[in-house]
Amino acid sequence: MKHRSPFWYPLVVVSLLSLALTACKKAGPESEGQGTAPLQGGGGGRTYTIGMSQCNLGEPWRVQMNADIKAAADAQPDLKVVFKDAQNDTLRQRSHVEEFVGSRVDLIIISPKEAAPLTEPVAKAYQAGIPVIVLDRRLLGDQFTCFIGADNKKIGRAAGEWIKRTLGGKGKVVELKGLMTSTPGQDRHTGFREGIAGSGIEIIFEADMKWLEPDARKEMESALSRFDQIDLVYAHNDPGAHGAYLAAKAAGREKSIRFVGIDALPQEGIAFVSQGIMAATFQYPTGGAQAIDAALKILKGDKALVPKEITLGSRLFTRDNVAQGGEALP
Ligand code: FRU
Repeated sequence: MKHRSPFWYPLVVVSLLSLALTACKKAGPESEGQGTAPLQGGGGGRTYTIGMSQCNLGEPWRVQMNADIKAAADAQPDLKVVFKDAQNDTLRQRSHVEEFVGSRVDLIIISPKEAAPLTEPVAKAYQAGIPVIVLDRRLLGDQFTCFIGADNKKIGRAAGEWIKRTLGGKGKVVELKGLMTSTPGQDRHTGFREGIAGSGIEIIFEADMKWLEPDARKEMESALSRFDQIDLVYAHNDPGAHGAYLAAKAAGREKSIRFVGIDALPQEGIAFVSQGIMAATFQYPTGGAQAIDAALKILKGDKALVPKEITLGSRLFTRDNVAQGGEALP
């Protein structure tokens, strides 16, 4: 006997098909992202998409920042993060912000390479109604929702004071600076100079190593070839301090020089201090978890709970205190 479908059968098929199509459209443009979360769960079943633009992933500290963001976002079933890597290219990072605005993400997190060139695209996104959290390096003006980062001037000043004490108030120092068009480089420099002010410490050589270990190594080679006595290297980050150490080691002079840096990642700066390669490192927290915490509050309507600026603390690690977990900066 021939089996006949009921009269409503085609209607059900059409409705199911259109439901499936809608779901595909939603997953479409953001599907390149990592840290995806299931669509169900959270408040009212809505998923929020966050666009995260990282200025580069060539340094361990930035890989850690993305990992911290991903871990915090993965714990939230209604958050999805699309990560983009600008590969240290300012123009590429400008395009990231424009692309995020074009695809109407719910919120942008950016850790900008440089202040001036990224200020305008971020201001445009903010004016278009997309909340923007700026992480670690600052922009100019106030056209963003919230800035999160540690106080680089304070860290630089603490480094200067520690170096002044450790060298007994005098000595010959090399300063290897971070990218001076980025605000942490500027602040770690001015803070440091304030910290050593009035002492007998002489800066015999200074150079911009752009946060990069190979550049720091090259600059240190020049310093070593010009100066017979170098007491200490103050580098604006741990890769810089390590690059300087490698240059000194190649010249057989690493034992007579102290190396001080900033970042204090467990597998990098803290390990170098424990191994006796570096004399000290100052922690520079990534702010990844705090960014997701602020993003959640902004997206769920508790915007008033998020201040314009969130300042993170820092810790000092030296050979004497590294085994006890360092000490907090006052
Ligand atoms: C990584 C990095 C860190 C440094 C931070 C400053 O790109 O250079 O080492 O602390 O950026 O923005």
